[in-house]
Amino acid sequence: MQERLARAAERVEAELDRLLPVPRDERAPLGEAMRYAVLGGGKRLRPFLLIESGCLFDVPEARSLRAAAALEMVHGYSLVHDDLPAMDDSELRRGRLTVHRAFDEATAILAGDGLLTEAFGVLADPATHPDASVRLKLVQELSAAAGMKGMAGGQALDLAAEKARQRLSLDEIIALQARKTGALIIYACTAGADMGQAGKQERAALAGYGERLGLAFQIADDLLDHTGSQTETGKPVGRDAGRGKATFVDLLGAEGAREKAAELLDQARESLDLFGAKADFLRAVTVFVLERKA
Ligand code: IPE
Ligand code: IPE
Ligand code: MG
Ligand code: MG
Ligand code: MG
Repeated sequence: MQERLARAAERVEAELDRLLPVPRDERAPLGEAMRYAVLGGGKRLRPFLLIESGCLFDVPEARSLRAAAALEMVHGYSLVHDDLPAMDDSELRRGRLTVHRAFDEATAILAGDGLLTEAFGVLADPATHPDASVRLKLVQELSAAAGMKGMAGGQALDLAAEKARQRLSLDEIIALQARKTGALIIYACTAGADMGQAGKQERAALAGYGERLGLAFQIADDLLDHTGSQTETGKPVGRDAGRGKATFVDLLGAEGAREKAAELLDQARESLDLFGAKADFLRAVTVFVLERKA
């Protein structure tokens, strides 16, 4: 699976490079900052999930790569804004200076705006899918996953809880993280089904897988903040507790959080039963999510 992930990462990197050409004769560094934000790093897990779930329905890779690159632009934007002083105030991402440190704050805000907007242009292009109703579905689903009901809304809850130094209940943390991180991961797991015009049952199975995987993925991220290293994660660690972030680790302790993640990952694997051996790479992701060091 690791080799296959590396191959997908390489291809999505090349696709992003192509979709975001080096700006020429520009007096402002925006294009450069957008490229800095999405090129040269990241695990590319969301693109991998999108491409692999597309494989279940024989989606040609040239198409799924475009959707994967669009999703990675939205993810990249979410990280640029997440790192801003007004949010998590972080100086390091993927082992390099964050965008607002390498450029400046206004450029980082605009780089996020630019990436988010470009992503929808990529999805709307007929090269992504010849059927306009499929393209529309991809656009609608990504809009829902990134907006108020998804990532942006989850980020707002995360910051509100931090500001109020609120201790959230388990159900509240699950609801927050399902939006903050889960929504884009569910998109990664269902966009391939939408592109392959999969049946309802198969799409629902992938949504169930993505929901559980997404929650476990954020728990693992929170565990890495608690016990991981800056060298391996490429971002500062030990920040969540200090800021009073509402996380599973804060509520259940590291061991409890790890158990919760393992339980979610068992359930994620079960969601894939109807696909048989075809979904083995998606099954392997569930192991990677909790064992990863970055
Ligand atoms: C980090 O995401 C932010 C979360 C949603 C937990 P990733 O861990 O996927 O970050 P990259 O893309 O690999 O850097
Ligand atoms: C961020 O969660 C989730 C996003 C929507 C970007 P974190 O704030 O925990 O992500 P890291 O640890 O900075 O990558
Ligand atoms: Mg954050
Ligand atoms: Mg953060
Ligand atoms: Mg984190």
